[in-house]
Amino acid sequence: MTQLDKKFEDLFLNVSSRAALSSYYYIGKKNKISADKAAVDTMRSELNKINMRGKIVIGEGELDEAPMLYIGEKLGTDIGPELDIAVDPLEGTNFAANNLPGALSVIAVAEKSNLFNAPETYMNKISANISEKNIIDLDFPVKKNLDNLAQYKNKKIEELTVCILDRPRHRKIINELIKSKVKLKLITDGDVSGALLVTKNEYNVDLFLGIGGGPEGVLAATALDAYNCFFQGRFIFDNEKDKLRAKEMGIDDLRKKYDLSEIISGDSIFCATGITSGDLVSGIQIKNDEFISETLITHKLTGLKKKIRLKQKIK
Ligand code: FBP
Repeated sequence: MTQLDKKFEDLFLNVSSRAALSSYYYIGKKNKISADKAAVDTMRSELNKINMRGKIVIGEGELDEAPMLYIGEKLGTDIGPELDIAVDPLEGTNFAANNLPGALSVIAVAEKSNLFNAPETYMNKISANISEKNIIDLDFPVKKNLDNLAQYKNKKIEELTVCILDRPRHRKIINELIKSKVKLKLITDGDVSGALLVTKNEYNVDLFLGIGGGPEGVLAATALDAYNCFFQGRFIFDNEKDKLRAKEMGIDDLRKKYDLSEIISGDSIFCATGITSGDLVSGIQIKNDEFISETLITHKLTGLKKKIRLKQKIK
């Protein structure tokens, strides 16, 4: 397994923090599209300055629907290593439009062919801070996951906190969670952050589960890999167009449950910069001609896993 050069840590940190700054100017303007476009434009132009042969594997959509950061777009100076790049320039468009906590700018990078080429569909996901298999599983009943996790963590079920997107599609699971008397953390959006809240005790989340975006699942999996956490995901292909696209992307078994190692392998770097302050990181602050950003960065092979506060010139 070759290691991504450490210099990429600073380079990708700069990409997500500058994209976060661009989106920040649209916070609370009730305009998801402009907030997203600002982050996309900046992310793309910053990525194009990097010496790499980069390719978007998860981005803003297919070429016919996204002019920038589309799946398959080549980025960088065309000098340097071949990299797979997954981006969510603005994760939490509602948060940004309404000036609510939790908007992030996110990027994940791995060596060529090591990052899952995910279709833009929903994904059923589960994550926890466990390195062993068979304690929790996407296919176990909710109650079994809770029982096993409680035993593993030496806690009572009532002491577990479970994070899930507050959506009608989750009504049955949420009712089961209520019946089990766990503490709920219902999030209105932003399940990259939701999935990552299991990584550290300070976030007080034991389990994340439920259906959210597939691309968001792959991004979260990259950071979870660096934290040696557990993650499984199963894409949901519920219409003919998605099923066809999945086949074209080489996915034969449409019901396959993916383990973390099948989504991300080898070395990887993940950066999530706060646009508005949330559970994971603080938002952008502007002081005169400078801005301060906070980024959660992980680099699998160097073991880097920390939040970095950066003061930079706005330019
Ligand atoms: P956007 O930033 O694209 O608005 O996504 C926000 C988000 O909450 C994701 O974090 C999550 O994976 C997805 O939307 C859930 O989709 P839906 O809102 O359709 O349930």
